Amino acid sequence: MIVFDIITDKKFLHQKCDDVSFPISEDDKKLALDMVEYLKNSQDKELSEKYGIRPGVGLAANQVGVKKKIIAIYFEENGKVIEYALVNPKIISYSIKMSCLDSGEGCLSVPKDVEGYVYRYYKVTVKAFDVITNKEITIKARDYLSIILQHEIDHLNGILYTDHIDKKDPFKIIEDAIFI
Ligand code: NI
Repeated sequence: MIVFDIITDKKFLHQKCDDVSFPISEDDKKLALDMVEYLKNSQDKELSEKYGIRPGVGLAANQVGVKKKIIAIYFEENGKVIEYALVNPKIISYSIKMSCLDSGEGCLSVPKDVEGYVYRYYKVTVKAFDVITNKEITIKARDYLSIILQHEIDHLNGILYTDHIDKKDPFKIIEDAIFI
């Protein structure tokens, strides 16, 4: 069982991460896979209670103290597991249409949820090297996966979801945005 200490220090989290150089080291590959494993375990009620960890669907390497462009995603949707261990992920295109989670976003590095809408692109296309399948992949994402990808890639650029919330009008409505 992998238990990471999750960083909550905003000063550290607001720093940008560095590109991972190729060939990817065994240490970096292991970290990426461990991060996916951590997320999977965090969603297991017994394990999360036993180890005192919050359930999460996405994680960036700087949240575990490593300033490298590595993110992990793990969740289940309609009985299907969606999992990625991505190195140097990059958004190569996005929709004009925006979307937003009805309930707002959360983050393992932000212990107390901050309320408000976080608007993101409804669709994104992301290019990355995926350690799980061991190849360069292109992900065409929409809805929830699109939001998670943008949240995690933001982390690599030193941006937290709370940075996106309009301080004066946290529940501002953007016309045409799709609420998920
Ligand atoms: Ni986060």
